[in-house]
Amino acid sequence: MASSAVNAFDPDHTTLTVSAAELREMRDELQRFLMGYRFGLREIETKIAILREEFLLLHDYNPIEHVTSRVKSPDSLVEKVQRKGVEADFDSIRRAITDIAGVRITCSFTADAYRLFDLLTAQDDVHLVETKDYIAQPKANGYKSLHAIVSVPVYLSTGRLDVPVEVQFRTIAMDFWASLEHKIYYKYDAQIPTELSESLRDAAHSAAELDARMERLHREIRGGGIGPVH
Ligand code: GTP
Ligand code: MG
Repeated sequence: MASSAVNAFDPDHTTLTVSAAELREMRDELQRFLMGYRFGLREIETKIAILREEFLLLHDYNPIEHVTSRVKSPDSLVEKVQRKGVEADFDSIRRAITDIAGVRITCSFTADAYRLFDLLTAQDDVHLVETKDYIAQPKANGYKSLHAIVSVPVYLSTGRLDVPVEVQFRTIAMDFWASLEHKIYYKYDAQIPTELSESLRDAAHSAAELDARMERLHREIRGGGIGPVH
């Protein structure tokens, strides 16, 4: 099918010719692959929304400030596959890249981050694959968050698909710090000047102090329970 052949990609100056039909097939396959992650994300989002609503109704208390989620863009997925030297087939990518679907749950207090982690991972259909507790053990730069890779089943017409989802639990103060650090990291192309990284570490310390202080205040007001404020 010479007429529909296009020179699609030529990184090593070895010409790779892909027909238009093959290109369409690759596009459809990628769309199907990413669709599974969108559904996995939706399952986790629903679970979080249910916990949030139930907490509010039962305890007159909302432990969640906000929830954001995203499926990695094809560009960023391709970049990570190349950076990590992963074989470029869907099975290998599914195994090696576990943050294609990501949910970030920003909580009011540190105790809420752990409580939500416990409630989510205790559910029968949520399988905990990996935990990284950067709250108990912050990264050297000061980064704090509780990370979990969970696997959740999604039921498609073709059967059950277990989808890995990265869930990050953090407080507003940790989130505030992480978003600024992220901007600085990119501004300096990962080479943050020493003085600035020291300031960031110091700011992470202040954020942790604020978290501890607010949580103490909160406990004093509510008398330690999760019931309504009297
Ligand atoms: P990645 O290859 O970047 O996904 O790292 P990883 O596989 O070692 O996972 P890790 O749990 O350490 O980090 C996953 C995600 O947490 C990142 O994609 C960020 O969203 C967030 N994160 C981790 N470290 C930092 C950090 O130092 N600063 C900020 N702002 N975010 C971080
Ligand atoms: Mg990541």
